Amino acid sequence: MGKLAKATEIMYHTGLSRKMLKGARFALLPGDPGRVESIAEGVGQCERLAVHREYTSYLSYLKDEPVLVCSTGMGGPSVAICMEELARIGITHFIRVGTTGSIQDKIELGDLIVVKGAVRLEGTSTHYAPINFPAIATLKVTNALAAAAEKKKYRYHIGICISSDTFWPGQERYDSFTGYVPKAFRGTLQEWQQLGATNYEMEAATLFIVAQSFGLSAGCICVAVAKRTDGEKVASQTIYMGALPKMISTVKEALLMLIDK
Ligand code: URA
Repeated sequence: MGKLAKATEIMYHTGLSRKMLKGARFALLPGDPGRVESIAEGVGQCERLAVHREYTSYLSYLKDEPVLVCSTGMGGPSVAICMEELARIGITHFIRVGTTGSIQDKIELGDLIVVKGAVRLEGTSTHYAPINFPAIATLKVTNALAAAAEKKKYRYHIGICISSDTFWPGQERYDSFTGYVPKAFRGTLQEWQQLGATNYEMEAATLFIVAQSFGLSAGCICVAVAKRTDGEKVASQTIYMGALPKMISTVKEALLMLIDK
């Protein structure tokens, strides 16, 4: 077990302290600071805690359980910084609630994907564990998310994502400034599809490896906002807004299962 900060010590990047979290053990982690408020309100009664850099945070209450909602920003480095600070102020369960690009035809825009493992197509996690160590979500968190989506009868999938450091070349997108995808990434979309991976995103591998290295728990659920079997573009915000209530109610149901344990 790592070291907790003093109750009043304010963390440098997130602007949060142990005292501000009121004993919260669970954190919901969207990437986008602009999505924190609506997620926090969806969880329950909430108050804004801090707005620092890419880290906007609210404290919500699910029944009597305080739940932190904090944005991570995009990509591994800002996720790892966030987790380092949140672990020091008492968070033991990190649940990413993000957006993603599906790579299998059966996964439609707006579907939920419970991510059970991640391809480490990024660099941050290698600072915590060698590259041949697998990036896997905590089983009880994954099971709770899947059981919750099943109970709610939502369209959902359980799968392995590719966590890429880049939105364009690493996800084999050609609609970039240069249109160029380096040789190392050409043909990779097809290979991941052939291997049965489900989706591209940018944070899960770091989340899983950092949590594992801390001896803490992590899980991930995403809404598909791009469908790579149809094209490279991200769908309109309407898709995300339409799916958000489903993701929030799934996560709330999963939290109730995890809190009871
Ligand atoms: N996030 C990603 O990283 N890729 C997508 O295609 C959509 C969301």
